[in-house]
Amino acid sequence: MLYIGIDLGTSAVKLLLMDETGRVLNETSLAYPLEFPHPGWSQQNPEDWKRAVLTGIPRLLEGFDKSQVAGIGAGGQMHGLVVLDEHDTVIRPAILWNDGRTSAEVDELNGGVGREQLSAWTANIAFAGFTAPKLLWMRKHEPENFARIRKIMLPKDYINYILTGVHCTDYSDASGMLLLDVEHKRWSPEMLSLCGISEAQMPKLYESYETVGTLLPEIADALGLPETVKVCAGAGDNAAAAVGTGTVGEGGCNISLGTSGTVFISSERFGVDPNNALHAFAHADGHYHLMGCMLSAASCNKWLMDEIYQTADYAAEQMPITDDKLGCNHVYFLPYLMGERSPINDVNARGCFIGMTMDSTRTDLTQAMLEGVAFAIRDSVEVARSLGIDIRRSMLCGGGAKSPLWRKILANVLNIELTLPVSEQGPGMGGAMLAMVACGAYESVDAVCRALVHVSETVRPDPAIAARYEARYQQFRQIYPAMKWLFPKLL
Ligand code: XUL
Repeated sequence: MLYIGIDLGTSAVKLLLMDETGRVLNETSLAYPLEFPHPGWSQQNPEDWKRAVLTGIPRLLEGFDKSQVAGIGAGGQMHGLVVLDEHDTVIRPAILWNDGRTSAEVDELNGGVGREQLSAWTANIAFAGFTAPKLLWMRKHEPENFARIRKIMLPKDYINYILTGVHCTDYSDASGMLLLDVEHKRWSPEMLSLCGISEAQMPKLYESYETVGTLLPEIADALGLPETVKVCAGAGDNAAAAVGTGTVGEGGCNISLGTSGTVFISSERFGVDPNNALHAFAHADGHYHLMGCMLSAASCNKWLMDEIYQTADYAAEQMPITDDKLGCNHVYFLPYLMGERSPINDVNARGCFIGMTMDSTRTDLTQAMLEGVAFAIRDSVEVARSLGIDIRRSMLCGGGAKSPLWRKILANVLNIELTLPVSEQGPGMGGAMLAMVACGAYESVDAVCRALVHVSETVRPDPAIAARYEARYQQFRQIYPAMKWLFPKLL
């Protein structure tokens, strides 16, 4: 049988077709626009996601026997607020995970309600990208829109709704709303009431590998697929990517160098970071995970190459950065181009290069950008280490992991081994694997991971380079505290 994996990303939807042996038979990708209506705001039109998915699936299936498709599963960008009215029409553009408009609401929640109380209800505190502060923002700034809300959902849930007509979400993605009691896997009545919404406005909760429904007749018809195709609940993109790299069960770690950068630590037991610097979320395997998320990772590279250097040849920019230069750069880069989430939780933080002299080169700046992202990932790894989590190796995925240089920098900055999966398909592969479990091809998420995830290369740190980076990291971590007071004044 065949399975479709959907990766509903921030710049594009990536679709893949896979059989149950894990062979990727076809892939396609369709881009959509991203709006920044104000500095630090970030929105997207759910109708664009719908169009991309409904155009992309027939393209993905061209030349294949459509009657063989058994299931569909999606991994989606997390936290985005999608609101539907009584006709299930989208009320306003979705406010995305990297949107920073809610700093007042975040202060109200963390300062007013209090971090301890929020953490007791939801296992997390408020971050600007989370969904609850966006609801409070909407209630204050768009009361007419707020009054029209009949259903609230997350980005991939809107796609599942379009495919099946079911208002649903899964525990991993719902964890990032600050509306879920993560430990007990139910909506938090206190948080719903605080945001002025009722449980009837929330989607139904499922495990990621459960079937939420089958294709609506008109959708099956439009896609040329049987109506019996099952759609599983799917997962937040990080949980789906973790499934795609086999990071399930106790003690796994996956680092993703995507648009965002994440450190994902899987666990069979529920646990909370006492300082809430790491998110405590449910995992797509039925268990839990801790996660640090930086808002701009591979997007820093894209920004520097596309917007600033105006080049498409990313590899050429990295070529002069040879091993002898690693850990010797005097230029530093703070990667806070959209503010920052983990661990500093500062919407006002901004990107900056610092330490240049007249002999600094374009290559030094490129290197500083790659290193700055790696140092910021290390900030989250250090939080995990401070909790007694001993990270010695990790899986690595995401677009940035395609650069051998960035992999080497990251392995040395973290001083751990980084292993790449053979099939680097990210959340789309995880989505297809979850669909296989929903369709009964495998008995559990753990079983599908054991059968389908194979590793290719391991990048090992070099003691001399790692020692040089240790010194550089200690300098890097002093830059943000020195700048922090200035950022709000620059707005
Ligand atoms: C995770 C997060 C990002 C998005 C990116 O908390 O906000 O990783 O899911 O799509």
